[in-house]
Amino acid sequence: MKHEQLIDLVEQLTLPEKIGQLQQLTGDFFIDRETAITGPMKEYGLDENLLHQAGSVLGLSGAADLIEVQKNYIEKSRLGIPLLFMADIIHGYRTIFPIPLGLACSWNPELVEKTAQVAAKESAVSGLHVTFSPMVDLVRDPRWGRVMESTGEDPYLNQLYGKAFVNGYQGKDLTNDHERIAACVKHFAGYGAPEGGREYNTVDISEWEFRDFYLPAYAEAIQAGSKLVMTAFNILEGIPATANKKLMRDILRKELKFNGVLISDWAAIKELIPHGVAADEAEAAELAIEAGVDIEMMTFCYHHFLQELVEEGLIEQGLIDEAVLRILELKNDLGLFENPYRGADEQKEAEVVYSEEHQQIALKAAEESIVLLKNNGSLPLKIEDKIAVIGPVANSTDLLGNWSWKGDRSETQTLTSALSIYYPHLLEAQGCGVLDGSSTQLEEALEIAKNADKIILALGESADMVGEGASVTNLQLPECQLNLLNEISKLNKTIVLVLINGRPLDLSDVSEKCDAILEAWFPGSKGAEAVANILVGNTVPQGKLTMSFPRNIGQIPVYYNAFNTGRPTELLGTEGRYISKYVDVPNTPLFPFGFGLSYTSFDYQDLQLSSKEMKMENGEITASVTIRNTGNHDGVETIQWYIRDLVGKVVRPVKELKGFEKIHLKKNESKQITFTITTDQLTYIHSDFKKTIEPGEFILMVGGDSENILQERLSLVL
Ligand code: GLC
Repeated sequence: MKHEQLIDLVEQLTLPEKIGQLQQLTGDFFIDRETAITGPMKEYGLDENLLHQAGSVLGLSGAADLIEVQKNYIEKSRLGIPLLFMADIIHGYRTIFPIPLGLACSWNPELVEKTAQVAAKESAVSGLHVTFSPMVDLVRDPRWGRVMESTGEDPYLNQLYGKAFVNGYQGKDLTNDHERIAACVKHFAGYGAPEGGREYNTVDISEWEFRDFYLPAYAEAIQAGSKLVMTAFNILEGIPATANKKLMRDILRKELKFNGVLISDWAAIKELIPHGVAADEAEAAELAIEAGVDIEMMTFCYHHFLQELVEEGLIEQGLIDEAVLRILELKNDLGLFENPYRGADEQKEAEVVYSEEHQQIALKAAEESIVLLKNNGSLPLKIEDKIAVIGPVANSTDLLGNWSWKGDRSETQTLTSALSIYYPHLLEAQGCGVLDGSSTQLEEALEIAKNADKIILALGESADMVGEGASVTNLQLPECQLNLLNEISKLNKTIVLVLINGRPLDLSDVSEKCDAILEAWFPGSKGAEAVANILVGNTVPQGKLTMSFPRNIGQIPVYYNAFNTGRPTELLGTEGRYISKYVDVPNTPLFPFGFGLSYTSFDYQDLQLSSKEMKMENGEITASVTIRNTGNHDGVETIQWYIRDLVGKVVRPVKELKGFEKIHLKKNESKQITFTITTDQLTYIHSDFKKTIEPGEFILMVGGDSENILQERLSLVL
């Protein structure tokens, strides 16, 4: 449809029909009309008209169902405006990839884009039009359960991943490519910084910090063309995001030039009342529509009060018209006016969803996401090793993680099953449950352990222990699992810990009892096979952390790109009292950002700069470093380039990731890697919020993680 036709269509709509387009309902309102009328419609006090006026649906999928719902809806829609179908496809549709915090550890944005494209294809043939992804909230607090959905603590990486997800979902021609779906960047904004890591808690960051660390990833994803943005539950500068005109009108719409659809998070409009900025639903509706929120997700302030607010002259009808137009433009961008069924196709659904090709991509994604945190030489396993697989996760299919809605655990292989392919006579025992255990389970496990050479100890979290609403005050593994580890460690056997979890954990006590630690995250549909391939050395571990692992919960927040303070340990040592430090643990995390081991070792030598000076005016210099594989295994290394601005007009982080390159090196092979530094990478946000740069001294660093680095000074000159 042409733009003019859309404008004409808006004019033809009655006010109730316009308000209906702003309403999003869950799928259960549409599956069975009669049940809907006597059930949720009655419960929420909704009139039946809403069933054929609501603009969008969340949480329904399946080609047959969505074709049926769309057909019934359009037949009753006076002007034949089609429904939008949206859902949370966060890390795969039915082919489930590692959780985003795991995917991020691949340091492979191209692969992440591929996973998003697969997710889009499986979703589109199943009838979906929009996914509520990517979540690009920067995170520094593993107590918060939703770190699993993020890509970590670095603004630069979060930008690359945000863009990769959007490009993977949307492709280049969303209107005609019906194997793509629209992306929705979330949660705008700053949701990843709740006080105390407590879910939905207050966010209180300065605008300067927000713009320097948190805003860039949203901006990049919007720049990549995301069709939707979702409001965050939290306040920012004292005003809930969903009612925050400065955030939504000035920053999102004007500064970032976003003219797509702004959807509230679930009930976020009605929650303006408990937040204490709206006295009632009418005021909540008024605040949200004035902030430019187009769709209300699953509460009914708009439905119940917008018409009255217009009629009483409290809001301009134009606010509703502009929201409706944006929603119709989204439907038009998806080609729904020409074909309301779009990609929904039962036959394609049967061929494409969870196809062998997609499973192989999930296997590759899992293998590249797994991080080797420790290895005293026990890995890779030898085929002659006598193996026992012990732990609550050993024989569990709970590997898909939170937000894996259509993932099917009955299709998910277990770690024990995957390992038994290599070790047909492996021994196994549960040892305890995820949260509790019995003495019998423990005794059985110890008996099994005694008969093995190496113990693969599979520990971790269940999917519902992370994700939304799963903030914790204790980052250690559950007591029964720690006890199992303690008892097994008394047998003086080799212990290889495999972690299935969704957040950085406190591994301080655990690490010293293990000979090797493999952080597998929730690795998805092919995770067990990926873990087994790495344990036996068919695949080399190559993941690198994108979120620091604290030594204990007291150290939080601990992140690599921190400011130096006036009393840094680097300057004053750690002995003195009056230093910025803790008296009981070092300032460094247990495992730092960018860290991940291989089965080989890499030596960095000969960092060179093409010049020690770079001109302010369009200057650039090239750095080079030689990496050698000095071990007995072929390997994959992610070379990371960091800079530090020694003197800014505002303080600058002690290091900032500015680039990376992932390379394969055969044993004894060496390679010279180059990196071009431009002035653009040396700019930063001034306290007047403008991007700025000035001459001065910088340090360029390169290494295989954020702590083990080579460095050279660089002068930026006029
Ligand atoms: C949830 C989440 C949001 C999700 C939405 C729909 O509360 O905050 O990320 O997309 O509701 O399920």
